[in-house]
Amino acid sequence: MPVISAPQEFNQDDLYVDLGVTLGIPLFLKCEGFNFTGSIKQKAAMEMVEAAERDGVLAPDSILVESSSGNLGIALSVIAANKGYRFVCITDPRCTLAAQRIMSVLGTTVHTVTEPDRDGGFLAARINHVRALCATDHRYVWLNQYANAANWRAHYRHTAPAVDRGFPQLDVLFVGAGTTGTLMGCARWFREHRPHVRIVAVDSVGSVTFGHPSGLRMIPGLGSGVRPPLLDEEFIDDVVIVPEAETVRTCHQLAAAGFVFGGSTGTVVSGARQWLEGAARRTRLTCVAISPDLGERYLDTIYQTKWVEGLYGEDVLDTHFARGLRSTRTTVASDQPNSAGMPDSSRITVPGARGGQ
Ligand SMILES: Cc1ncc(COP(=O)(O)O)c(C=O)c1O
Repeated sequence: MPVISAPQEFNQDDLYVDLGVTLGIPLFLKCEGFNFTGSIKQKAAMEMVEAAERDGVLAPDSILVESSSGNLGIALSVIAANKGYRFVCITDPRCTLAAQRIMSVLGTTVHTVTEPDRDGGFLAARINHVRALCATDHRYVWLNQYANAANWRAHYRHTAPAVDRGFPQLDVLFVGAGTTGTLMGCARWFREHRPHVRIVAVDSVGSVTFGHPSGLRMIPGLGSGVRPPLLDEEFIDDVVIVPEAETVRTCHQLAAAGFVFGGSTGTVVSGARQWLEGAARRTRLTCVAISPDLGERYLDTIYQTKWVEGLYGEDVLDTHFARGLRSTRTTVASDQPNSAGMPDSSRITVPGARGGQ
């Protein structure tokens, strides 16, 4: 029986959904939404705060400040409340109302930037705001999840070893890329301990992380308007890029089977499905994808028909349309399966970026 004295102590590291049964995809989904703060960002938040405490950066009168699209903000709100720190979260209009409200309940001050930066989008605008705030008072401490090594270290120490414990025969791991903390922590651990495991990064159309053009993205969590400083592509075998419309369709498909996940899970599952379509002997591969959170926080967006149709068109949830769109998939580089049954160093991209940031 797990007994905790602080919410951030509880990580649920051993729960998987078998998508072979649910969607007919040979894929296990590692569910991080059952961590006490509701997402995978609990691990990064905890590791960064503990590192700052160890390094003497955090004092009792410190005010934590961080830029977040939601989940890290919630995790830090829980930890700050529990440890007695003040916390200011800088977010943007894509942060759901539910996320903003739970942060407020936890005593966090939420600042929402309303104008994207011309070059770096909302992320750059949020970071400019953080810097401006820090310049006003020396008590502000910016953990800076985008460049903080404790972000990826959390996944090196916890997420990757947990996947390995659950799936010692793992062939492929699919990980979404936001700050790339999860991706880099897992990629570094597997490169060091199980170098045969293929690491596939999944990102959204409109994100510049892997060198694609920037575009409007409305689903928080994955993607970036600025290249993530933590990213080292040398550790990544393949990259799959998913349009948000496809993300939304997959979320609804999973919900129809009883699993209501967050948006980034829809992206990662879509990306894994695309990658597996190009892999020979796919049913013999052992594949895991990381699901960062559950769907309750997205009831007013991804699971709200008006929001979805307003952004992606009225036929976005139509299955015939969905099938047609998937058939327009283009693959570049060598997409021929190798002896391991996997596409060779392929960069799989899906057209359909919507312009403007
Ligand atoms: C829902 C969700 N998915 C994915 C991610 C990406 O994780 P990372 O920042 O480790 O790349 C985040 C990060 O905030 C998130 O909130």
